[in-house]
Amino acid sequence: MQAEFAVIGGTGVYNPRMLTDIQELTVDTQYGAVPLKIGKLENKKVAFLARHGSKHSVPPHQINYRANIMALKKIGVKKIIATAAVGSLNEKMAPGQLVVLDQFIDFTKSRVQTFYEGSDKGVLHVDMTNPYCPELAQKIIDICPPSIYLHQKGTYVCTEGPRFETPAEIKMFKMWGCDLVGMTSVPEVVLARELGMCYGSIAMITNYAAGISALPLTHREVVETMSLNTHNLQALIMEVLSKLNSTQQCFCSGANLEAGNLG
Ligand code: HPA
Repeated sequence: MQAEFAVIGGTGVYNPRMLTDIQELTVDTQYGAVPLKIGKLENKKVAFLARHGSKHSVPPHQINYRANIMALKKIGVKKIIATAAVGSLNEKMAPGQLVVLDQFIDFTKSRVQTFYEGSDKGVLHVDMTNPYCPELAQKIIDICPPSIYLHQKGTYVCTEGPRFETPAEIKMFKMWGCDLVGMTSVPEVVLARELGMCYGSIAMITNYAAGISALPLTHREVVETMSLNTHNLQALIMEVLSKLNSTQQCFCSGANLEAGNLG
């Protein structure tokens, strides 16, 4: 079964509510098997992958990012829209609002970030000047209805988790220019680029980050804010999917030309 578009649902987005005629399948890859759903939106085939599993049973540092991204490549995906629950470090970005990510800072510690592991697989130093596909980001911005509050850019710092950050870490990230903090965008976005797929991410702010919020952080707060606002996120994704075409006019598809296409 093939699909040209995919949604990767993060925390709070476990079901492809925007799709019809949903079928379940498991895609085998050399990195592991990946359960997926494929459904229809109008006349398009769209794959849905729950990043943390359908019951949020996989913590951020144990997600099999390579298997997930390879599975999407194997079924023919060209464009991925990911969701991400994030904390905010920026007073202008409030819980409940959405942000189109445009840059990241990587603070992860234990994750394999490449398909290109040397010898027969080759070596790739993939370009990250625009880590999130700028064409897809612009499309999301252009299509977003005025009823949905969307920030047009934001720098995301990816922490290792699964613990939340200390206020001292957040203070440092803020000085570095970070707007948002989460635990999953890296290496997902990097691996998608390595396989030549366009990857856009819509972040939902669920809380102010540690030390900015006076209260201790809880996963429950994150999930509750997500579920209160998920209708906006799902509506925006549906709008974008219905207007996207699968032609890649950006540079993403040629990102691995120097090393050769593995997908
Ligand atoms: N920190 C890290 N990840 C998160 C947060 C946070 O404050 N909120 C939602 N995901």
